[in-house]
Amino acid sequence: MKIDKCPVCQSTEANVETDAQMVCRCPECFHLFYVPSEQEPNASSFLHFDLLEEIGQGSNAIVYKAWNKLDERFCALKLFLCPDFADGESDFTKEFEFAASLIHPNIIRVFSGGSGGRAEYLESELFESMDLNDYIEEYKKMPIDDAIAVGCEVCKALDYVWSNHLAIHRDIKPHNILLNNEGEIKICDFGMVNEHGEWFDELKIEGTPFYLSPESISGDYQDNRSDIYALGVTLFHLIAGEPPFDDPSLKKTIYARLESSVPDIRMFDISVSQSAALVLQTMMSVDPDDRYVTANECLDDLIRLLNEEPPELVDATRPKINH
Ligand SMILES: Nc1ncnc2c1ncn2[C@@H]1O[C@H](COP(=O)(O)OP(=O)(O)O)[C@@H](O)[C@H]1O
Ligand SMILES: [Mg+2]
Repeated sequence: MKIDKCPVCQSTEANVETDAQMVCRCPECFHLFYVPSEQEPNASSFLHFDLLEEIGQGSNAIVYKAWNKLDERFCALKLFLCPDFADGESDFTKEFEFAASLIHPNIIRVFSGGSGGRAEYLESELFESMDLNDYIEEYKKMPIDDAIAVGCEVCKALDYVWSNHLAIHRDIKPHNILLNNEGEIKICDFGMVNEHGEWFDELKIEGTPFYLSPESISGDYQDNRSDIYALGVTLFHLIAGEPPFDDPSLKKTIYARLESSVPDIRMFDISVSQSAALVLQTMMSVDPDDRYVTANECLDDLIRLLNEEPPELVDATRPKINH
C-alpha cells in the first residue's frame, strides 16, 4: 500500500509504503493519520472495529469513535503511532495494564487492548464529550464555579488512583479531562502512569509544558501532590483564560516555576475571590510540602469554595517529611 501525500496537509513528504494497518505522523504538519490495510484500502476498519469518525489526537495516538463488531457496541478506539514513527517505545503496554484496572465514575473505563497490523490499540468506553483544551479554544474561559466543580470531580478520580493503587496520573492537563453535555467529567490517558522522574526531556513535553510540576521538571520525588499541582494549573488556565507561566521561550516557561511561585490569579482576573486564589496557590506551591497532602483534602476546600465557606488551606507549621 502506497500513501503519496498527507491526507491532512497534502504534503508529499508524508510518503509511506506499508503493507499493514498503522498510524503514521506527517513530517510536515505533524498530524497523525491512519493507513488502512492493503486488502481494504478504502475501508475504515481495524481488526474487528469499524472506524466511524476521528474524535481526538494526542501526542502518540489517534482516537476514533468505533463500532466493535464482536461485542456489538460503540467504543472509543485509541490507535497508537507505529513505533517506526515514534520517539520512544510505545505507551501501549503500560497504559493498558494499568488503565484496565481502574473502575471509577470519573475515569474513562478501558475494555480491551491488543495489536493488529502494525498498530496497538486500546478500546474504551465512548464518552461523547469535549476535552477541556478544546473547551478553552472555543470559549477561552470557564465560569469559576464550573471550573471548581470540574476540580472536585478530578480530585475524586485522583484520590481513587492514589489511595487504591498508590499511583499518579503524571499528565493531568486540559487535553486529558473530558466534559459532556450533562456536565459529567472523566479523565483519560494513563499513558504516563508508570514513568519515573527521569522521563523529562524536551521532546516529550513539546506543546504542553504548562501543567508540569516543579519536581517533575527537576526529576525529584513525585507523588499525588504532583497531580494536585497540575490540576491547580489546569484550573488556573480555565478560570483566567491563560496558564500562569507562558513565555514565548519554551525553556523559560518550563523553568520559571522552579524559581518563582505562581502569580496571584487576581492579577489576571480581578473577580476571583481571595479564598479561591489562596486555594489555587496552595495547590500550586513550589514546595510539595506546602500543597494539600491528598486530593481529598483539596476536594474539601474546593467544596468549601462552592459553599462560600472559608477554605482551611494547609497548616504551614505541621511536621514535614524529608524525601
Ligand atoms: N474514551 C474517550 N471518549 C471520547 N474521547 C476520547 C476518549 N479517549 C480519548 N479521547 C479524546 O482523544 C484525545 C487523545 O486521547 P489520549 O488518550 O489523551 O491520547 P494521547 O495519549 O496520545 O494523548 C483526548 O484528548 C480526547 O479528546
Ligand atoms: Mg492525552
